[in-house]
Amino acid sequence: MRTDRLRVGIVGVGTWANMAHLPAFAAKANCVLAAVADQDAQRAEAACRRFGIAHRYRTLDELLAREDVDLIDVCTGTAGHYALSMQAIEAGKHVLCEKPLGRDLDEAYGLAAAAKRRSLLTAVGFTFRHSPAVQRFKALIDDGYVGRIYHVQGFEQNSLYHDPTQPRPAGWWGQGDAGALGGYASHLVDLVRWTVGDFEEVVGDMQTFIPERAVNGGGMGRSECDDSTMFLAKLAGGVQGVFQASWLAAGRPPGVEIRVFGDRGGLKLHLTEHPDGDETLLGADIAEGIYRPVAGIEPAQWPMEEWPQFYFSRLVSNFADAVLAGGTAEGSFEDGWRCQQVLDAVALASRERRWVRTEEVSPVPAH
Ligand SMILES: NC(=O)c1ccc[n+]([C@@H]2O[C@H](COP(=O)([O-])OP(=O)(O)OC[C@H]3O[C@@H](n4cnc5c(N)ncnc54)[C@H](O)[C@@H]3O)[C@@H](O)[C@H]2O)c1
Repeated sequence: MRTDRLRVGIVGVGTWANMAHLPAFAAKANCVLAAVADQDAQRAEAACRRFGIAHRYRTLDELLAREDVDLIDVCTGTAGHYALSMQAIEAGKHVLCEKPLGRDLDEAYGLAAAAKRRSLLTAVGFTFRHSPAVQRFKALIDDGYVGRIYHVQGFEQNSLYHDPTQPRPAGWWGQGDAGALGGYASHLVDLVRWTVGDFEEVVGDMQTFIPERAVNGGGMGRSECDDSTMFLAKLAGGVQGVFQASWLAAGRPPGVEIRVFGDRGGLKLHLTEHPDGDETLLGADIAEGIYRPVAGIEPAQWPMEEWPQFYFSRLVSNFADAVLAGGTAEGSFEDGWRCQQVLDAVALASRERRWVRTEEVSPVPAH
């Protein structure tokens, strides 16, 4: 890189950008928040005021006309991820994009291929890779704590969107948006690919329990995306997997749970907002079978931040340092498209009511 400070432009400064992305970049010493773009001028103005950002625009086009931005962060809804990330890649920028990387495998693969061709670094907003408990969970599996894995179970369940009278922007629940599969199961698939292994075959069921939801500005709109998805999987090495993603299950976010059971022991991980602490990691060896808290989670004491900011600061730090040092970042667009392949296979399995091999869903890149 030509400088020791990265100049960052963020497109989409809504709810999640304000909770996680903006505070994370603002706290990172070798990053400068140079500009934001949001089609909602009030949101752009509010972000600039809150974080002392000098420049704001309505479109990414206008932002990219600046030549002094090194990295683009895409934090719009899923429908915008492909076009905006591709525009940033074509302008030669390193890109962080929220999950799921695209609306389907072709979009996700197209982005990964385009970034690779231009040797640009990429990261997907796979927040939970940066949880200290998840990192300890992975290290223990890699060290053989559970031995040969037989079973993995993964859940992201909370009641964040259970209330249909809570207004959302029009299109928020449309087909272009992610639903529980893209929005929540994307995290599960990524974490399990990263810690346990590749998905080979899936069967699942996607449901929309609440078909109408309140829209900003008044009235009700049709919800076309799933609000609950369950699936079974066979992973490499014959590992059996059971998964569910739902935002209709009583509980606080993120509500991520992963359990692995092997021939030497088991691990149970739970991330949820709780007065006693947001992370729990329990382990048991096969002989005793009693689950106890696992030691060695770093840092043992969290700073004052809430989990979105804390995890995302670690994600941003990992990505920005990789860009500046010319290394690789955790959770790249390559991981993004491989995750999307599993999500598309689950959607196909649900539509056709059958088991689907993940390789059956092959990418056909648009570019
Ligand atoms: N990684 C995580 O754990 C996590 C958690 C929550 C949300 N997310 C992801 O973050 C993304 C944003 O979610 P949100 O809840 O903040 O949504 P939001 O609707 O609150 O905010 C999106 C913002 O993007 C703007 N926008 C949309 N299209 C645009 C375009 N083409 N040009 C400029 N601005 C545009 C909108 O005006 C809005 O301000 C989603 O992809 C979601 O999946 C990730």
